[in-house]
Amino acid sequence: MKLQLRYYGDPILRKRASEVHDFDPQLRAEAEAMIDTMYEAAGVGLAGPQVGLEKRLLVALQMEDPDDNEAEPIVMVNPEILERSPENWVFEEGCLSIPGIRGDVTRPERVRVRYQDVAGKPHEIEVDAMFARVIQHEIDHLDGKLFIDYLSMGERTLLKPKLKKIAEKYAS
Ligand code: NI
Repeated sequence: MKLQLRYYGDPILRKRASEVHDFDPQLRAEAEAMIDTMYEAAGVGLAGPQVGLEKRLLVALQMEDPDDNEAEPIVMVNPEILERSPENWVFEEGCLSIPGIRGDVTRPERVRVRYQDVAGKPHEIEVDAMFARVIQHEIDHLDGKLFIDYLSMGERTLLKPKLKKIAEKYAS
């Protein structure tokens, strides 16, 4: 099942999503629909608020590098970053909720993440490279943060007209 994407300007993208407490069949169905939606949109990650779900739930491809076409999807519920590496790297990011806009974002290279699976079982993993970047981008979504927030004042000023157009196009 494909879910309706939410776009820049939608207030849900600026809210902090709520912790998930019910690990029920509905959560499983939502996670599956999010994976379908991510594939359909050719994305590498998707967070609950981007499809109108105010839940700390994300799906992501476990990519080793930007050209990894065989990465398996993972579902993370209530994800939390426990540790960030001191080493950073820069990569040009985009977002399904902000179509047509890309920008360089500096992020820690490695992170240790704690999350629950759809059954509620806790996991702790250390991830690096693209996968670590995708997870950080998606966890930001759960806190109402977007990648454009990391851009310089100058870059954001330049993007303003484009962002305004996106907000107008999708406003209902
Ligand atoms: Ni995004």
